[in-house]
Amino acid sequence: MNDLAGKHLVLGLSGGIACYKAAELCRALVKEGASVQVVMTEAATQFITPVTMQALSNRPVYLSQWDAREPNNMAHINLGRQADAILIAPASADFMAKLLHGRADDLLSLLCLARPIERVPLLLAPAMNREMWAHPATQRNVAQLRADGAHVFEVGRGEQACGEVGDGRMLEPDELLEDLIAFFQPKVLQGQRVLVTAGPTYEAIDPVRGITNLSSGKMGFAIARAAREAGAEVTLVAGPVCLPTPRGVQRIDVRSAREMQQAVVAAVPEARVFIAAAAVADWRPAQTAAHKIKKDGSGQPPALDFVENPDILAGVAQSERARSGALYCVGFAAESEDLLAHAQAKRARKGVPLLVGNIGPATFGRDDNALILVDEQRATELPRADKLTLARQLVGEIARRLPGHPAH
Ligand code: CTP
Repeated sequence: MNDLAGKHLVLGLSGGIACYKAAELCRALVKEGASVQVVMTEAATQFITPVTMQALSNRPVYLSQWDAREPNNMAHINLGRQADAILIAPASADFMAKLLHGRADDLLSLLCLARPIERVPLLLAPAMNREMWAHPATQRNVAQLRADGAHVFEVGRGEQACGEVGDGRMLEPDELLEDLIAFFQPKVLQGQRVLVTAGPTYEAIDPVRGITNLSSGKMGFAIARAAREAGAEVTLVAGPVCLPTPRGVQRIDVRSAREMQQAVVAAVPEARVFIAAAAVADWRPAQTAAHKIKKDGSGQPPALDFVENPDILAGVAQSERARSGALYCVGFAAESEDLLAHAQAKRARKGVPLLVGNIGPATFGRDDNALILVDEQRATELPRADKLTLARQLVGEIARRLPGHPAH
């Protein structure tokens, strides 16, 4: 993925131990397609050398407002004008206090103050000791910086370089990267609550065996991430899969279809959108044996009876909120043939406004997919792409269909 392709970023380092993470962050930004101009305060150079940052960013680092390399000698103007965003990582307590007061006695603070405020966002990744972070002065400064238009990322929690444990660590480079990519996505679901199901379900036969399917959960997890990037508050009900939780998403792990249904029923009254991407088992064994079923020596396999699982999506789609349009339901269809006809029939059967079809065997476990969106009027194809790209397109399509939405 090249989620930052074409973006030019100023990566500012102020003084703090977390400067060591800025090296990896810089590398990750470049790998994601961004061009990166590093600017360091004098304090930052105590923690990491400009040589390292120059090598990783492939550009000379700027350190001083008196740098004569710029023909007009105005690095603080030129660097800010070229940037799509200024990211300060780490942002020390002292540097944030300085920004708050509009002080500008070194290149980095000067650059932040001189940036075109409407066009060049300022993003801060705070990093400090837990007492410094919790101090009322710091909290006041963070609130004021936000009010002044800066985007302040969360801090991490855990063991700190000083040996203490608490809030204030800078987010890890991969977390910051995910948050930064999210920052640039259009906020088409800002403030909306979105509920997503993902993955397979597992229906127990006995304590060690069960029936399940080949769904990897990747599409549902990508949708949860894309919805969060679009500004939604996302709850993800996940069957048994080993995938990392997307940043900022509330995850509820379940195993069986009935557990999934319980979690959905509990969360759905708050939701504006319900996206059922899970591959729910249609049947479960009628009984779950309390102990492992043993061979009895007869050579005959045990007879298994099945009962039908509740249809989670159809149940939700029949609710009053869904029928009145207060809840927008999106179903998935994993088919093995005749996709369009099956998707259209399933949309009608499930009673949902939008159904997303895909070819199950061709997508399960893969990182890419191709979708067909079927609504009341038409079928729209989303051609093969990686699942996150498709998930973002799907989120855009859903947002556009929400009654009362500006894009509607
Ligand atoms: N679904 C559900 N609960 C079930 C079965 C399916 O919520 N017990 C949801 C899936 O999450 C998906 C949609 O219904 O959004 C369609 O799932 P699919 O398994 O393709 O359809 P089925 O209803 O099982 O139809 P069929 O087996 O005939 O293909």
